[in-house]
Amino acid sequence: MGTMNFILHTSAFILQQTTSSRPVAVVTGASSGLGAAIARSMAQQGYAVVLAARRAEQLEALAGEIRGGGVALAVPTDMCDPTQIDALAEQTLAQFGRVDVLVNNAGANTRQRAYNPSDEQIATIFGTNVYGPMRLTRALLPRMLEQRRGHVINIGSVVAHIATPGNSLYAASKHALRAWNDSLRREVAHKGIRVSLLSPGYIRTDMTMGMRGIPMPGPQVVATAVLRLLRRPRREVVVPGVYRVAIWAANLLPPLADALLGRMRR
Ligand SMILES: NC(=O)c1ccc[n+]([C@@H]2O[C@H](COP(=O)([O-])OP(=O)(O)OC[C@H]3O[C@@H](n4cnc5c(N)ncnc54)[C@H](OP(=O)(O)O)[C@@H]3O)[C@@H](O)[C@H]2O)c1
Repeated sequence: MGTMNFILHTSAFILQQTTSSRPVAVVTGASSGLGAAIARSMAQQGYAVVLAARRAEQLEALAGEIRGGGVALAVPTDMCDPTQIDALAEQTLAQFGRVDVLVNNAGANTRQRAYNPSDEQIATIFGTNVYGPMRLTRALLPRMLEQRRGHVINIGSVVAHIATPGNSLYAASKHALRAWNDSLRREVAHKGIRVSLLSPGYIRTDMTMGMRGIPMPGPQVVATAVLRLLRRPRREVVVPGVYRVAIWAANLLPPLADALLGRMRR
């Protein structure tokens, strides 16, 4: 019994030492695509990562892989459910006592005409892409403010600058996320909290599966951009950088944007 107690206490002590010395990152949408790549890359850089998404099996598989050389906690969470979001924040703080980085990455997309979205589509797209990040940030930011240190990275999209036809809800949600991101950044910059928007163009993931004829890099380009942002915080990063030209042109020449993007409606 004495030996067993000794082993248990020593294991708990070692676990505490290995977890407490690491910065802590929460990554939503970590069950696939960009979120999984971001979580993996951050874990390789020494972050203890909290993995959130709905699919528990995928989260556990990634957590198991990361635990081979790092620290990971899987917390199945539906980002449309405020209670589950609060539980994610509580579990993170109970386990690690701090949070250094929040990557609001979970996102949903749907194709529909701008004039006839269903109520369910409206609730799902805005719930996941806008209200979820707002609620999770609300739950975790107080601890960052206490620490006077923290970085919130919101995964936006190029469509937050150029609204494409056929997925207006998604475009509207990413515009809303971008506006909220900018307000938040301006509110907390003087308190030691960084806020960055990472705006990907088309990237090869489940979300873009089935789209043909568009060259797409893999998710690692976004994960690498996150690591760069952590080293050198910036307001916004567009990845791949070539999409900056499209954003610039669409803002400068709206009639041209209408003519070119209008073709996509068919
Ligand atoms: N791929 C692109 O071309 C592209 C371009 C611009 C921006 N983005 C953005 O990048 C982010 C990641 O997307 P992705 O390309 O990696 O697509 P993905 O592979 O489909 O990943 C989406 C992630 O969001 C999670 N998610 C969806 N609904 C959720 C909910 N209600 N609660 C919790 N998690 C939820 C999914 O996990 P579960 O299903 O397990 O819940 C999944 O992990 C999104 O915000 C997306 O808008 C992607």
